[in-house]
Amino acid sequence: MSIADSPAKRKLQEQGLEHVSGLAISETAAWKQLHQHVGEIKKTHLRELMKDEQRCQSMIKEVDGIVVDYSRQRVTTGTMEKLLSLANEAKLSEKIDAMWSGKHINSTEDRAVLHCALRAPREAEIFCDGKNVVPEVWSTLDKIKEFSERVRSGEWVGATGKALTNVVAIGIGGSFLGPLFVHNALETEPSAEKLAEGRSLRFFSNVDPVDSGIALKGLDPETTLVVVVSKTFTTAETMLNARTCRAWITSNLGVDAVSKHMIAVSTNLELVKEFGIDPENAFPFWDWVGGRYSVTSAVGVLPLALQYGFDKVEEFLKGTWSMDQHFRNAPLESNLPVLLGLLSVWNVTFLGYPARAILPYSQALQKLAPHIQQVSMESNGKGVAIDGTPLPYEAGEIEFGEPGTNGQHSFYQLIHQGRVVPCDFIGAVRSQHSVFMPGEKVSNHDELMSNFFAQADALADGKTPEDLKAEGVAAPLIPHKVFTGNRPSLSILLPTLDAFTIGQLLSLYEHRIAVQGFIWNVNSFDQWGVELGKSLASRVRTQLNASRTRDAPLQGFNYSTTYLLTHYLK
Ligand code: F6P
Repeated sequence: MSIADSPAKRKLQEQGLEHVSGLAISETAAWKQLHQHVGEIKKTHLRELMKDEQRCQSMIKEVDGIVVDYSRQRVTTGTMEKLLSLANEAKLSEKIDAMWSGKHINSTEDRAVLHCALRAPREAEIFCDGKNVVPEVWSTLDKIKEFSERVRSGEWVGATGKALTNVVAIGIGGSFLGPLFVHNALETEPSAEKLAEGRSLRFFSNVDPVDSGIALKGLDPETTLVVVVSKTFTTAETMLNARTCRAWITSNLGVDAVSKHMIAVSTNLELVKEFGIDPENAFPFWDWVGGRYSVTSAVGVLPLALQYGFDKVEEFLKGTWSMDQHFRNAPLESNLPVLLGLLSVWNVTFLGYPARAILPYSQALQKLAPHIQQVSMESNGKGVAIDGTPLPYEAGEIEFGEPGTNGQHSFYQLIHQGRVVPCDFIGAVRSQHSVFMPGEKVSNHDELMSNFFAQADALADGKTPEDLKAEGVAAPLIPHKVFTGNRPSLSILLPTLDAFTIGQLLSLYEHRIAVQGFIWNVNSFDQWGVELGKSLASRVRTQLNASRTRDAPLQGFNYSTTYLLTHYLK
C-alpha cells in the first residue's frame, strides 16, 4: 500500500482536514513566505523592536486574569500575520473543531481526542461516536467525590479499622507527571494546605527498587491507601510496582486487606479485576483521553481529591475549562494557545531554535517543566506527517526548565551568552505565601519577581561593547562580558497560583502543544516511539531470567550488549 493510500491519509480526506491547497504544509506559499521573512527578521534586534510601543501593545494579551506578553519574541506584526496565514493554510480552526467534535483525529490509533470533555460542566454536551460523553465523565466525578469524602472523613477505613490518611499513587508518564505537577502546585497554596492537614500523598513511579524504598519509607500499611493508575494496566513498571505494594499490604495485613487498601484508575477494568482489585473500587476513564492529557481524568482527580477534597479539585477543573473555552471560541489572532503555538513553530522551524526553557518564578511550579516535557515531546516528537509521509522539517521541541531563581545559578549562563533558547517566564502577581522581612527593602516575593522582570530584558537587550567601555571595563574582558541580546522570551503573569489558575496554565500549555502539532501536521496524540525500547527490554528481561535460572548462554545481542550483559551477570 502506498502512503497516498494509507488509512491515515484517507481519514484526513474524509474529515476534510487535508490542507487548503492539498499540498504538504512545507510546500505552501504561506510556509515559503515565512522562510523568506526570516532574512528580514535577522536584520532586526529586539533592542530596537522593543522601542515600538504600538508593536508591543499589540503583543500583550490578557485573558481571564492571565497576562501573556510576547513582545520579546523575534517577530513583527507582519510576522504574526504570516503565521496566521500559515494557520489558515493548515486548517487550524477546522482541526480544533474536529478535536472538539470527537472526530478520530488520532488516526493511527483510530481514537478521538477529547480531554476537554473531562472538565466540561455537567450540562455541557460533547459527542464521541454519536454519544454525549459528559454524563459518564460526571458519573465518575460523582463517584470520586463520594469515595474521597468517605476516605477523608474516616468512614472508609482500612482492614484494621484505622482511617486511611496516606495515599501512594503508583503510575508513570502521563499517569504520574501531571498529577505530581498539580499536587506540588497546590501543596503550598494556603487553602489547599489546610484541606490536606493530617494527610499525605506520595507518588511511586520508577521501577527502580530505590523508588519503592522512598515511596513506602515510614508509611504504615494500616493507614495507607494505594491507587494504581494506569490507562492500559499493562505498563511493566507500574504493574511491578503494584505487585510490590500488594505484597507489602498482604504480608502486613493479610490477603483480604487488598479490597480496603488498593484501588485503581484505568480504561482497562478487566485487567484491574484480574489483578485482584474490586471493580467497585476502580475509577474508569476512556480511550479518547491520551495518557499525557489525562491529569483532569480520574488519573489526577482521584489522588488529588483524596488529598485536598473534591471541591478544591473542581476549582482546578474549572480553571482548565475556562482556558478550554477561550481556545475553542476566541478568534485565532487573539487566541493565547494559538498564538503561543504559532510562535513556537516560528522559533523551532523557521528561526532554528530547537529548545525551549520553561522558567517558572515559583517554587510551587517546580514540576511544570517535567510535565510539559512529556506532553510536548511525546506529542510532537515525530518524524512523519499524519499521513505517514516523512517530514521534510524537524517537528517537536526540546523542553527543559527549573524554577527561577535556581535556574539562574545553573544553566542561564548558556542562555545568555551561549546558545539561543527561547524562554517562557512564568510568574504570579501575588505569592502563595507573602513574607516581608523587617529591614528589607522589598518583600521576598518582590525580590523573586525582580528577577522575573529583569531576565527577560537582559535576554532581549543584552549589553554592547560600547556599554561596557562606558562602564570602564578593561579591554581584555570586554568580549567576555558582552551580551549579544536578541534572545526571545515570553512572559506569562498569573494573578496568583491557586487551583483555578493552575488549571488555566495547564490547559494553555496542552492546547499550545496541540496547535504546534496541527501546524507541523503530525499526530500529536500517538506515541509509537516508546514501543521499540519496551520490546527490547522484554527480550533482555527474558534473557536475564534464563541466564540467572538456567545459566543459559547469551544469544541474539550485538557485541556491545553481549559484553555489557556478561559484565552485569558476572
Ligand atoms: O511512555 C509511554 C506511555 O504509554 C505514556 O504515554 C503513558 O502516559 C505512560 O506510558 C503510562 O501508561 P499507562 O497509563 O498505560 O500505564
